[in-house]
Amino acid sequence: MIRPKKRQTGLFLTFEGPDGSGKTTQSQKLLGRLLEAGYDAVWTREPGGTRLGEVLRELMLDNDPELGEVSPRVEAMLLSAARAHHIDDLIRPSLDAGKIVVCDRFVDSTIAYQGGGSKLDIDALRRINHFAASGLVPDLVVLVDIPAADGIARRLRLVAGDPEALSRMEKRGLGFHNRVRRQFLNSAARAPNRWLSLDGREPEQTLSDTIWRRVEEELQARSVEPVGTQPGRLF
Ligand code: TMP
Repeated sequence: MIRPKKRQTGLFLTFEGPDGSGKTTQSQKLLGRLLEAGYDAVWTREPGGTRLGEVLRELMLDNDPELGEVSPRVEAMLLSAARAHHIDDLIRPSLDAGKIVVCDRFVDSTIAYQGGGSKLDIDALRRINHFAASGLVPDLVVLVDIPAADGIARRLRLVAGDPEALSRMEKRGLGFHNRVRRQFLNSAARAPNRWLSLDGREPEQTLSDTIWRRVEEELQARSVEPVGTQPGRLF
């Protein structure tokens, strides 16, 4: 059994949600507000955040015909391995240095996409990810929720209606994306104190203000103080 390493500093915030929910916009807005208020914060994403993670992102999401069929099981293992590296290389050292880490997607995306969407065993995914993350869990998960059909329609609008421009993951059918969304809602219901669930169809500014108020509470509760004007880091 893995004992979570004790952590007394920093704040680990993750953003989750179906494709097209607007969580990336919101996570970057939050980073901007944190830096403006003088906090030491970094933004990162999964898959991504390290060279290894970014290479995996390209492999997983690009529509490279030479990639062939990658099974959900393989997908889950690759994502978890890249996550372990992301944690060792960037997330844990940043938290240990007292920084606020804003991460666009984390373990809960594996539970929703590979578990809910692709129907892999969710308990097994939780165990693998507990090992990969060496017990690290977010202090707060912001769920930017949206009905799957609305999210995919938004993504299609962004690529001028060309379905070929969607990622491999986005091209999976509506049934898949409905299961992903349902799993996000289930995960949020399991730990309501650690999740902030929002309706991604609300105006951008309303969402950003709600997230900011909640993050301010977390900062206060953990006595995380501003350190002055910081350059920040976009992965
Ligand atoms: P996004 O971060 O731009 O939304 O794209 C990441 C895609 O990768 C998205 O379709 C969800 C998918 N994904 C998984 O399937 N499992 C995971 O564990 C993660 C982090 C992402």
